Amino acid sequence: MQRWSALDPTEKSASLQEAGAVLSSGGIVAFPTETVYGLGADARNTAAVEAVFAAKGRPSDNPLIVHISQQNQLQSLVQRVLPMEQQLMDTFWPGPLTLVMPVIDGALSARVTAGLDTVGVRMPDHPIALALITAAACPLAAPSANRSGRPSPTTAAHVADDLAGRIDGIVDGGSAGVGVESTVIQVQEDGHIIILRPGGITREQLLTVADHVELDPALSDVAAETAPRAPGMKYTHYAPKGNMSIVTGDHLNEVAVFMQEQLVMAQERGERTGVLVFDEDETIYDGSLRLTLGSLSRPEEAASRLYGHLRQFDEAEVTFILAQGCAEQGVGLAVMNRLYKAAGGQFIRV
Ligand code: TXA
Ligand code: MG
Repeated sequence: MQRWSALDPTEKSASLQEAGAVLSSGGIVAFPTETVYGLGADARNTAAVEAVFAAKGRPSDNPLIVHISQQNQLQSLVQRVLPMEQQLMDTFWPGPLTLVMPVIDGALSARVTAGLDTVGVRMPDHPIALALITAAACPLAAPSANRSGRPSPTTAAHVADDLAGRIDGIVDGGSAGVGVESTVIQVQEDGHIIILRPGGITREQLLTVADHVELDPALSDVAAETAPRAPGMKYTHYAPKGNMSIVTGDHLNEVAVFMQEQLVMAQERGERTGVLVFDEDETIYDGSLRLTLGSLSRPEEAASRLYGHLRQFDEAEVTFILAQGCAEQGVGLAVMNRLYKAAGGQFIRV
């Protein structure tokens, strides 16, 4: 496995040309984006796309997002662009917004779309990602560069932990920015937006462009009786090895007292305990690995730290984790969505 680091993200960078050549000849290479690291492959090459599914251990019914570096690459991928879609791309691209649009038959490997008649496309806001797509000279299918079921990687070290020996290379660009994945949306003919997966572009930001923004009902369906429109949302993603529950309540001190009691009881049962809190909670939580997500008033911090912290609980072999919830505002909606999935839906309201 090759490792390219300390990159100059210009099209002339020799390392990026090399990594791009590996991609255009059918190899699979992990690279940084502004959200999380992706594992890229030429989206037209079925063998390369199959290698991505194999390296990740990903279920084959879960489609991949296609990454482009210029808007004109869309013409050869999607059947049409609605006026609202155009407005969203003009406003938020490059950036963490994926649009699901009707795919042109035969434009991409059918493995990318998992047999659907739509494709999710985005233009990442990261100089290395953009330069790499240009160097590869093809649309890059890229899911997050983690083993399926592990938290998404926000550093090259996370990628190596999960995928060393299974992929052709890693482009190391330091820490990814946002820390949670892109927002996946579908625009309806009438211009209404449905959020299939909350992410880096917030519902509030989308509402500055569109009057109607709804969440896919499957996102709040605890019993999982509604099939999500983003197939990936049905899997227990991001699961730490320990048993995790989210704790919320109207008063932080009550939440803290409850968590402290539960953690002590768990320790008495022989569990290794961990707690994920916000800065506003100053409780010490004796005997537990205590990690903080920053201030409750800045969900961006929580987004950027979340996956790294989940990995840290795994490294410390924590078996029982309690996580404080935050408000579902701004990127807090995506943070709570990922926490909820990491907790396998286990939710306690104090
Ligand atoms: O930020 C991101 O989006 C990262 C970086 C690497 O770009 N990528 C990422 O890809 O998160 P992945 O494969 O881990 O997640 C793709 C999500 C899944 O939930 C999948 O079901 C959904 O997007 N998706 C992809 N194509 C779709 C389609 N045609 N229709 C509905 N959902 C789709
Ligand atoms: Mg993923």
